[in-house]
Amino acid sequence: MGAMKRSPLVLLLLLSLLCSSLALASYSYGDAGGEGRSGSGRPYHFGEERFRQWAQSRQGRFRVLERFTHELLEDAVGNYRVAELEAAPRAFLQPSHYDADEVMFVKEGEGVVALLARGKRESFCVKEGDVLVIPAGAVVYSANTHGSKWFRVVMLLNPVSTKGRFEEFFPIGGESPESFFSVFSDDVLQAAFNTRREEWEQVFEKQSKGEITTASEEQIRELSRSCSRTGRSHGGGESMWDIKLCSLTSKRPLHSNNHGRHYEITGDDCPQLRALDIEVGLTNLSRGSMTAPSYSTHADKLFVVLDGSGYFEMACPHLSSGRSSSPRRERGHGSREWGKEEEEEAEQEGGQKSRGYKQVKSRIREGSVIVIPAGHPMTLVAGEDNNLAVLYFSVNARHDEKVFLVGSNGLLRQMDEAAKALAFGAEKEKVDRVIGAQSDAVFLRGPNSRRVSSA
Ligand SMILES: *[C@@H]1O[C@H](CO)[C@@H](O)[C@H](O)[C@H]1NC(C)=O
Repeated sequence: MGAMKRSPLVLLLLLSLLCSSLALASYSYGDAGGEGRSGSGRPYHFGEERFRQWAQSRQGRFRVLERFTHELLEDAVGNYRVAELEAAPRAFLQPSHYDADEVMFVKEGEGVVALLARGKRESFCVKEGDVLVIPAGAVVYSANTHGSKWFRVVMLLNPVSTKGRFEEFFPIGGESPESFFSVFSDDVLQAAFNTRREEWEQVFEKQSKGEITTASEEQIRELSRSCSRTGRSHGGGESMWDIKLCSLTSKRPLHSNNHGRHYEITGDDCPQLRALDIEVGLTNLSRGSMTAPSYSTHADKLFVVLDGSGYFEMACPHLSSGRSSSPRRERGHGSREWGKEEEEEAEQEGGQKSRGYKQVKSRIREGSVIVIPAGHPMTLVAGEDNNLAVLYFSVNARHDEKVFLVGSNGLLRQMDEAAKALAFGAEKEKVDRVIGAQSDAVFLRGPNSRRVSSA
């Protein structure tokens, strides 16, 4: 029994070791490519290998990104967790609740999500591009309603009891998951259910197939019939919390041009998001394109790459070790050693604060997560052969505004003439030429697209 239990664990361990070494290998080989200096992006970038498997079987898996414990992240996003769920065709997920509010985004496929709370049931038919808020404590069960496609969900969890930690509670189980009822004493259980313990066990501890199982076609049809896009309520009365399904991608994009599209759901579209102070957005960059350098005034953003690959760059004052790490000095050095920047992270103590910034840069691809704190200028660049689609969750989103630094809506164009002359220390014509040269906004031609106007 013990050995049987252990072997999948050993396998998992080996697999994850293999995966992380593969990831490392592809990173360092990839560095020979045309993107020049590139790094681990620490502590802001998380590769796919930083997810932990919470559940895995042939029917699907649930994996959770490690906590944001680095001192530069903890205050901003330390109470959030990013997770991904993948369910095979016709997979059914056991009912459970979290001690966390959850924002889920359907990345791929279709399914039904049923919520039990306040004595009622509400079932939503969800599909690609949908966002649904699931309040902490609601019991949820869900199923992939497609017969051949996988159902994939990205979620943001906001724990309500323990900072940065959440747990899943299963009322019904067997060996794994275990029913949380099973730890109550016999007397208590018998009295509570008004049933003998043995009889209770035969019902509540009978599920032996794990937390993700497979439903029959008939069961799927039945589950699908009970759901709706507006959340059909069962159990009478008005809808419980006006939980609304919001589609991110069926709306008109907020920004759109040849280089990319941007969609967003705010508290105006979805009241539950406002209550959580979260916004959700999706940026889909055409291949070879980039986002205009920008920053968020108040929100801290968690980006999850959905599709494609590329890289990001961010200016960070905290990691600065003065001039020595500024890109200017390093230009022409060719590739740079991986992980080297960690040694450079040493903060300067005492004296005048250094006004240098550190470049944070890393290649990103499906499964990568990056954290961009408020105020930090950044840009995303799509690879040359593919779109780069990135989902983001903005937290602390109230009062947030996105500031574009460059482009036809670039902020610096708003300066007074006199201030420009003072601040730039260069001739007015030159200044205006440089800050006026980019005629696109939000999404721009990327650095490798070889049509940059010459200086
Ligand atoms: C991004 O855009 C491409 C091209 O229009 C499209 O094929 C792809 O499905 C989009 N990705 C997402 C996640 O919306």
